[in-house]
Amino acid sequence: MAQLPANDYLTLHEIIQQARLNLGNHAWHYIAGGAETETTMRRNRWSIDRLALRPRVLCDVGDTDAGIDWFGRRLRLPILFAPVGGLEHFWEGGPIPVTQAAEEFGVPHMLSSVCACDVGEVARSAPEALKLFQLYVHGDPQWVDDTLDRVIELGFEQVCLTVDTAVYSRRERDLAQRNIRRANVPGRHWQAKLTWKDIDRVRSRIRVPLILKGIATADDARLAVEHGVDAVYVSNHGGRQLDHGQGTMEVLPEVVDAVDGRARVIVDGGFCRGTDVVKALCAGADLVGIGRLQCAALAAGGKPTVLRLLELLESEIRIAMALAGAASRADLGRRHLAVSESMLPTHTWGAFPMLNDDLSAPPR
Ligand code: FNR
Repeated sequence: MAQLPANDYLTLHEIIQQARLNLGNHAWHYIAGGAETETTMRRNRWSIDRLALRPRVLCDVGDTDAGIDWFGRRLRLPILFAPVGGLEHFWEGGPIPVTQAAEEFGVPHMLSSVCACDVGEVARSAPEALKLFQLYVHGDPQWVDDTLDRVIELGFEQVCLTVDTAVYSRRERDLAQRNIRRANVPGRHWQAKLTWKDIDRVRSRIRVPLILKGIATADDARLAVEHGVDAVYVSNHGGRQLDHGQGTMEVLPEVVDAVDGRARVIVDGGFCRGTDVVKALCAGADLVGIGRLQCAALAAGGKPTVLRLLELLESEIRIAMALAGAASRADLGRRHLAVSESMLPTHTWGAFPMLNDDLSAPPR
């Protein structure tokens, strides 16, 4: 298949197909893989797919608006580009085309601290973008303070600590291909020593909204709120860390209930389609993080294709909202959801049944 001009993509699966053609095995399986048996990763998809939507009719959905206010900024969609390390392996400039596409469309990109890039250059490349920064704690408290001060000074308006990575997991697709550089990052041991005291320290030092990523239980969500976190980010790292965990859509409702409006809620893990996003909104999420799909769009064609991904997602979200009987996010609730049976395969790209399963097969 020849590389398409971005606007020629009419379905999301065509973008993924192009990404597979453009990437070698190392990069492809780095994106597609999870930890060990990939059970957590598959449960993410399963936990979304097993939910059915219960539509209401005759609701005047002539003018749907999927946008949301987020700490004083209006977002065009309830979408966030989740932090992804190593974006430079998928397209020249790494995070810059993602941040620029996000800026042009009107959604945020959360920059990962393990992208090989000049953070200032990323910030300057998209001056109007709502810029979020995600940090892995790979140094002592002074290193954390200096890093956060620097990115806030550069214009990052919200910061996030990822806390589901006490240790680096066994990513067997990477191991099987001897693609092991990422497992040996200097300073990683600091991440294992983190406690709620560190959250208190960071909270007391910074004035911008603080997000905690990797919350997977109501108990930790409650603690996060008690420790002054502004947004609880429900995530299992796309099934790339603890294996045999729950799917994030299984735990989202308990987290939303525990937070009880005292903080905003983000969720990610397997969200690929407009209906997936609408289900998360029904369950009470404010924003939905997009991880692997972001990587695929970047690899398929850089900024124009990332923009096209957002347009296609917007189209799917607006159609799903209208057909569910919701003119805006406020019209969606748990009454629109019912537990049913999943009809789709649970592999990485299971949301796209027109793709050949072989795309996500492990390396031989
Ligand atoms: C990630 N993720 C991640 N998370 C994080 O906090 N910092 C990081 O640097 C990375 N790096 C990273 C690389 C790649 C290639 C992937 C696929 C994921 C996890 C990411 O932010 C998000 O939680 C998941 O990707 C969400 O699941 P989906 O959308 O990929 O299924």
